[in-house]
Amino acid sequence: MRFEGRIAIVTGGGGGIGLATALKLLAEGASVGVIDVKPRPAAYEQYGDKAHYMVGDLSDETVIKQFVDDIAARFGPPNYLANIAGIAMFGKDGSVVDMELEHYRKTIAINLDGVIHMIRAVVPYMRQTKPSSMVHVASVVGTRTMDNAMKDGPLDGYQLSKAGVIALSRSLAIDLGKHGIRSNTVSPGAIWTPLTDAIYADPARVEAMANRTPLHRVGTPDDVASACLYLLSDDADFVTGVDLPVDGGLLAKLV
Ligand SMILES: NC(=O)c1ccc[n+]([C@@H]2O[C@H](COP(=O)([O-])OP(=O)(O)OC[C@H]3O[C@@H](n4cnc5c(N)ncnc54)[C@H](O)[C@@H]3O)[C@@H](O)[C@H]2O)c1
Repeated sequence: MRFEGRIAIVTGGGGGIGLATALKLLAEGASVGVIDVKPRPAAYEQYGDKAHYMVGDLSDETVIKQFVDDIAARFGPPNYLANIAGIAMFGKDGSVVDMELEHYRKTIAINLDGVIHMIRAVVPYMRQTKPSSMVHVASVVGTRTMDNAMKDGPLDGYQLSKAGVIALSRSLAIDLGKHGIRSNTVSPGAIWTPLTDAIYADPARVEAMANRTPLHRVGTPDDVASACLYLLSDDADFVTGVDLPVDGGLLAKLV
């Protein structure tokens, strides 16, 4: 019960890694405010008023500010922020040389601007409360390049958004350290979630990815959620400014 009596905000808790992280925080005693564009999953019901769910879009800063103020009024100033929501437009993303810029801009609006909106709304509360810590879910493609899983070529919009999240988290760690606020990223490798369902519906792709991965499997939402909880928790009290890959060893492998 590392989070008993503490308050957390989780984005993207409508499914996948965000849902797994919010449920783990609730199971360890936190009160949790969740925001997602999807409707509330039934799994939150067992936690009653300790789980507050709002349907809202991260790319709208006004909505985010209202959501965070509402959570602070209900539960008190948030101790934790888990920035997990994100999109990957596998079919439409590509090379900045020739992709439609509207697809690039949409990816940045959610994956990077959405993270920034949350940080701007939450940090003023975090300055008033202890402990306080943030985790942002980036990706191994923020550090190294992988091919677009659904068509030939790169995934530039997504890659740039995730590299931005890693760089931003490092900068926040240095700037906010004087307030005792920690900021870290988790970079998942290949994880089977609703985001990647279309990829892993093909068993040949699951097998190919498992064969490329030193631990010989595709990851689960719980694999990533456990790393998020570690970085948020007091167990990581002297850890800030790091990027933790949760990738079964993918990043460590050159070929
Ligand atoms: N699955 C993977 O292999 C993988 C790998 C690397 C990084 N990631 C990252 O992990 C994070 C979680 O992804 P996931 O795999 O669990 O996918 P997911 O699609 O299951 O979860 C993402 C959630 O974000 C929500 N969301 C999307 N746009 C939103 C918006 N504008 N406002 C509010 N909510 C919004 C979605 O509705 C969804 O519930 C993402 O940031 C993703 O980029 C995933």
